[in-house]
Amino acid sequence: MKRSWVSRTDIIEEVDTLKDNSETKKVLVILGSPRRNGNSAALAARISRGAESAGADVETIFLHNLDVSPCKGCDTCKEPGSTGCAINDDMQKTYLKLIRSDAWVIASPVYWFTMSAQTKIFMDRCYGLTAYSKNPFAGKRIAIAMSYGDADAVRSGCVNAIRTFQDAYRYTGSKLVGMVYGSAEGAGEIENNEALMREAEALGKRLVGRRSDASR
Ligand SMILES: Cc1cc2nc3c(=O)[nH]c(=O)nc-3n(C[C@H](O)[C@H](O)[C@H](O)COP(=O)(O)O)c2cc1C
Repeated sequence: MKRSWVSRTDIIEEVDTLKDNSETKKVLVILGSPRRNGNSAALAARISRGAESAGADVETIFLHNLDVSPCKGCDTCKEPGSTGCAINDDMQKTYLKLIRSDAWVIASPVYWFTMSAQTKIFMDRCYGLTAYSKNPFAGKRIAIAMSYGDADAVRSGCVNAIRTFQDAYRYTGSKLVGMVYGSAEGAGEIENNEALMREAEALGKRLVGRRSDASR
């Protein structure tokens, strides 16, 4: 019986159909804060601006408005011939977007000394990506944007999230191109930090560039 959600076969067929010879890089921005106009989103928007100025197509998704349940560890996605993740929610269409993009921007606030729950649930569900594409992480270029209330990146717990992203993307063979992070409390307040915003824009340009940059 055919599942009602997008299956691995559908996605692979769609990826093939959409393949073109375009040199245009596709960037997918994943917003992990419940505040659509918050600080991490502002950093991500500036990364997007940099990526667009370098010729990329940018699409942004707002996790908080999506129906994305936590991974239930059933390992259906790892079964031989798996047709995909067993959970029928908005992550199904997100898998397609993740596979089709050349680069990802992951933006999150620091919540309780690490990334937000929305971001962590998204990270866990990426476990299922291998059911839709043979090597979904390899060569994927990744930028991270984070904001926190404390004045200090270590005391805020931002370092814990940074460490997680570093370990995760080293493990998956992705390319962590760079990270921008800074302190701000009120939504959008981070835009006053012009030096950081310029850093974000430069990261966006590097994200789609050919130059190989070490993550910081
Ligand atoms: C539930 C919650 C937990 C938070 N935990 C931390 C924390 O552990 N460390 C910190 O420095 N700031 C913490 N903050 C402050 C946010 O990280 C800060 O306001 C950030 O700029 C919000 O980013 P956003 O606008 O993208 O949501 C917390 C805020 C909330 C609402």
